[in-house]
Amino acid sequence: MFNFQFHNPTKILFGKEVISKIAAEIPPQSRILITYGSGSIKQNGVLDQVLSALQGFKVEQFGGIEPNPSFETLMQGVALARARNINFLLAVGGGSVIDGTKFIAAASLFDGDPWSILEQWGAPIKGALPFGAVLTLAATGSEMNSGSVISHREWKIKRPFSSPHVFPRFAALDPCTTFSLPPRQVSNGVVDSFVHVTEQYLTYPVGGKVQDRFAEGLLLTLIEEGPKALTQPDDYDVRANLMWASTLALNGLIGAGVPGDWSTHMIGHEITAAYGLDHAQTLAIVLPAVLTVKKQEKREKLLQYAERVWGLREGSEEERIDRAIMETRNFFEQMQVRTRLSDYGIGPESITHLVNQLSKNGMTRLGEHRDVTPVISRRILQLCL
Ligand code: NZQ
Ligand code: ZN
Repeated sequence: MFNFQFHNPTKILFGKEVISKIAAEIPPQSRILITYGSGSIKQNGVLDQVLSALQGFKVEQFGGIEPNPSFETLMQGVALARARNINFLLAVGGGSVIDGTKFIAAASLFDGDPWSILEQWGAPIKGALPFGAVLTLAATGSEMNSGSVISHREWKIKRPFSSPHVFPRFAALDPCTTFSLPPRQVSNGVVDSFVHVTEQYLTYPVGGKVQDRFAEGLLLTLIEEGPKALTQPDDYDVRANLMWASTLALNGLIGAGVPGDWSTHMIGHEITAAYGLDHAQTLAIVLPAVLTVKKQEKREKLLQYAERVWGLREGSEEERIDRAIMETRNFFEQMQVRTRLSDYGIGPESITHLVNQLSKNGMTRLGEHRDVTPVISRRILQLCL
């Protein structure tokens, strides 16, 4: 196992009605800016719960953060936060709202052009406004991590940034908030969480038994509970398990001390930037192709995955690996997320553009061995058609 440091400062409040307890996590006298998306929190009563929990605080609101949050919109949030002397942000929504709030938090205190936060990984951020999160969509893990992905609408660019300054101070996770999700977003959340786990698990063995078994436990839970969230949408325990699995999938725990392969995400981001697909749709398309192209390098872990996650013990090694990749694709399809570019009307003409964008964004040495070059990305994308 590699040496590692593990530090996660986000406090989790989990369960029914935890939103009523958030005031205790916010410094008294704070001037709070509630950030949200297109308004689902008004329809499902979450905003009302938040406002009633924050009685006594000075509260402003900033709505309109889009899925795949845009730099352009977020800069309006920065202007508002600065103009109103906001000193605490509260993100209420899914990954896009939380990611967007991380950007507002960092950009509000940033000296210079805030776009430069997105120009290099581990941007030169020296501080950020403190913020909390009320999660309404189990998917990204953003509620308990220090990463964020922001899009520039005009330039059609989607870029990640990360900084220890943008860990949420706390996250309120009430699974009941997810009952109002449309099935498409429930499915997206399961697929996104699943791929977060595989990207930290399907690499090569380093003797990280704890990380491996945590990862396998999360995958098995997603496989078991994900379809139930579609067929038994009112089941609290199903929603609770999915919510906790998605948070643990990307809060640093299973990735500590083991290699990671984020090529599926990075290639997926280009598909979203160019064609507007949902984040999870891109992952469902790209992951099976990455596993197929990198079969040899990932051989041992794929065999372990085949056996421990899919129960495959019969047949040659090659057959078991191919079956495991097929089961993965079938699971995404079972979750109603299509797994081919052609399912979304995207043809072979897209590939050169996507590969060029990867190069332009510096994504030229992806994967756990840093050997997913533009040539390999092209091969992966060809298998996605
Ligand atoms: O706009 P609102 O009203 O919030 O509606 C949203 C949006 O339309 C809706 N929604 C959320 N909660 C709801 C609800 N509708 C009804 N009831 C509820 N309880 O769902 C739609 C999608 O929301 P969004 O926040 O975009 O989804 P998600 O949580 O999947 O976030 C995706 C974004 O996160 C980034 C992705 O790239 C994408 O931009 N990611 C962030 C990561 C991180 N910070 O660690 C890692 C991920 O890999 C991912 O890249
Ligand atoms: Zn993701």
